[in-house]
Amino acid sequence: MTHTLAIHSSKGGTGKTSIAMNLAVAFAAEGKNTCLIDLDLRGPSLCSMFKPETRFWINDFISGRCSIKDTLTDIKKKMDTSGHLYLSFANPDIGEIRDLVSKDRNWQAGALKALMAGKRELEQNNMDVVIFDTSPGVEYESINAVAASDMVIIVHNDTNACTNCTEQLIKGVYSLLDKKCAVIDNMYHGNHLDLIERKRYGAPVLATIPCMCEIATKGKNEILVHTEPEHLFSKSIIAIKDKIKTMQ
Ligand SMILES: Nc1ncnc2c1ncn2[C@@H]1O[C@H](COP(=O)(O)OP(=O)(O)OP(=O)(O)O)[C@@H](O)[C@H]1O
Ligand SMILES: [Mg+2]
Repeated sequence: MTHTLAIHSSKGGTGKTSIAMNLAVAFAAEGKNTCLIDLDLRGPSLCSMFKPETRFWINDFISGRCSIKDTLTDIKKKMDTSGHLYLSFANPDIGEIRDLVSKDRNWQAGALKALMAGKRELEQNNMDVVIFDTSPGVEYESINAVAASDMVIIVHNDTNACTNCTEQLIKGVYSLLDKKCAVIDNMYHGNHLDLIERKRYGAPVLATIPCMCEIATKGKNEILVHTEPEHLFSKSIIAIKDKIKTMQ
């Protein structure tokens, strides 16, 4: 059975894409066939890290122009993983992004249906893990990703703004959709690791990852789980992967 995770946050820049990418590599490295889908349709990221090897974007699939398989690029060889590691890229073209912003709720309901159908297609093709990297906040695309997932991973920064909005997301969105959720406290600035909470807003905390400048510098060009498995960030990602497996 395929396990589908939505990596989401209330605010932008909390570390969703960094965590989604490294988590995907970690799952594939242990032999799971993994697919990372860039559903941050408003601010695509994957295409700046890897080169798509197909002419179809995830946008084409959602709009009914191709099958989900047509959008996949396998980076198993590049990342030297034992499981397949597929990426599905979002189209960074500004015209495409503006077009998306103008879509109405009927179109978005169709987009959710497409996502659910895509999930089934991936399941039939022996995908073990599907990870949705999402846009922050409560735009339709993000809520569609959450609705189509089995579990939501909230990447959270310990700022007042993020805290207030995350609490609202959990109470007002995830609970209503009856989603299992867990929190990652990223970019943690405190010194008292012994005070780290095990639960936040009633959801389990999968990890507390310190703020480390080298994640921002190295992470631009490399996937730390792949290049530096002993790095604290990589170890946190492996621990997160193992905890997610126990929550399935
Ligand atoms: N623990 C960390 N310590 C320091 N820098 C980090 C950490 N985690 C992520 N970063 C850096 O923070 C920046 C934002 O990360 P990332 O792009 O993954 O966030 P995001 O939530 O996907 O952003 P967006 O909402 O714009 O999609 C990147 O430069 C990344 O390398
Ligand atoms: Mg991102």
